[in-house]
Amino acid sequence: MTDSTAPHRQDGPDWWRQAAVYQIYPRSFADADGDGLGDIAGAASRMSYLSELGVDAVWLSPFYPSALADGGYDVADYRNVDPRLGTLDDFDAMVAEAHRFSIKVIVDIVPNHTSDDHEWFQAALRAGPGSPERERYVFRQGKGQDGELPPTDWQSMFGGPAWSRLPDGWWYLHLFAPEQPDLNWDHPDVHADFKKTLRFWSDRGVDGFRIDVANALTKDLTEPLRDVGGISIEEQMATVEDGQHPFLDRDEVHEIYREWREVFNEYDPPRVGVAEAWVKKERLVRYASPEGLGQAFNFDYLKTGWSAPELRSVIDVSLRTARAAGASATWVLSNHDVIRHASRFALAEDADPEAWLLSGGTQPVADRERGLRRARAATMLELALPGSAYMYQGEELGLPEAAELAEGDLQDPVWERSSHTRKGRDGCRVPLPWTREGESFGFGGTPWLPQPSYFGELSVEAQEGDETSTLELYREALRLRHKLVGTDESLEWIGSQETEEAGVLHFVRPDGWHCVTNFSSETKPLPAGEVLLSSGPLGDEGLPGETTVWLRDGAEG
Ligand code: GLC
Repeated sequence: MTDSTAPHRQDGPDWWRQAAVYQIYPRSFADADGDGLGDIAGAASRMSYLSELGVDAVWLSPFYPSALADGGYDVADYRNVDPRLGTLDDFDAMVAEAHRFSIKVIVDIVPNHTSDDHEWFQAALRAGPGSPERERYVFRQGKGQDGELPPTDWQSMFGGPAWSRLPDGWWYLHLFAPEQPDLNWDHPDVHADFKKTLRFWSDRGVDGFRIDVANALTKDLTEPLRDVGGISIEEQMATVEDGQHPFLDRDEVHEIYREWREVFNEYDPPRVGVAEAWVKKERLVRYASPEGLGQAFNFDYLKTGWSAPELRSVIDVSLRTARAAGASATWVLSNHDVIRHASRFALAEDADPEAWLLSGGTQPVADRERGLRRARAATMLELALPGSAYMYQGEELGLPEAAELAEGDLQDPVWERSSHTRKGRDGCRVPLPWTREGESFGFGGTPWLPQPSYFGELSVEAQEGDETSTLELYREALRLRHKLVGTDESLEWIGSQETEEAGVLHFVRPDGWHCVTNFSSETKPLPAGEVLLSSGPLGDEGLPGETTVWLRDGAEG
């Protein structure tokens, strides 16, 4: 039975094209059993909240059995639920509850690496050098007189070498933490097992998949392995472009996604995929192709600062790229890996320009009020763009990055592996506040990461019914978006380069839905039209600084 109060949501095979997708980080969303760790039953219990918020789909970050060396992205068993988070029955009940509200469910697939607890890696360790069990991973002998040096100069994403040495003298590859050994995608078992996993979840009613590190699965493992000059993966990701790099964005990775597309198409409606691929935008189109995963995250939007001309150019390129792929565009402002946008938009002048990724709470935040004002304006702009909007839990409450986490509380491997130079991503993973009071503000038991004391004021309870709150802004924006979005994915810019340089972006969607953002801090003229919603108070003077307004019709003149 479908809940009759649920907003109209797209059904049919194209439901994903302009979906508003809400990312649940399960361990921090809602804790039903009170052990301080969010769980699947907790997520199920909040589907009515998400329906009222107006989302079309949820994406769950990994909830699989895991030793949590990397927040669950170290998967020990791809076809099960971590017992601390529930059971497969709980999962089925959660999917049924989501579907009751017409909310689709997307799960995270982590195919680049397993956990070192995975039965395959354990078998490989036991079986020893040269065994067939080791072929499923990347084991090599080291360089130097006694093999005491890593086989190549490849660096791990979290800092330090991408190779670790075993007591038997052999090295194994891990582009992330040592507890995340990379799989060998030249091995047929790996292909077969992931297809089995995709079918396993699809058979349980899962509607789609988010593919973790989709650009790194295939590697050039011909001997001798090639060095890359010892530069960091982040730097390489920004420059690699010919499909020939030893382990990033290789052309043949798309053969895997063509196989997966065949699996997706066994279902009705076909399952959907979205690639997490930090690659050059010209190459992103391959991941989003309808013969491949179908959609890819667009991180250029997230990486762009508070600048009208820069954002306009990113929007144009993103729409063009998505169209060329036959996909719809995607927009992301926050996720579990980056500084929450309510803080990112208010970083001090001297903050690291690369602060959007991994550095977390080490970056100085200048002005929290300004950050929230800009975040609300940026969200309304995002929700008016054609394509899918991926939102991260807690952004609807305007949560800032929890920068006050003490060093002793940090859990992210980035902290240790960067020799305490990068605090990591815990600041955006702090459990959500649901109520004003109580030990964990209604989250559950003693939270696995401590919540700052001001979280109570930002809780769902505190914001509900207050029409000036960020929660009510999201609800109204998503309600209007459902009404206005249609199926036409076009956008027309209004105004000139001059208005952009003055800090104003104005575009119109079909049926006269206008979106105007004033990036400057001065008031600008408010175009004509019926005001549908604004990210902040409008006053009589015009469009205040750092504010977005949606208007209907009559704005052209
Ligand atoms: C992705 C995830 C991130 C994780 C990494 C390794 O980038 O989003 O959280 O640490 O992959 O799996």
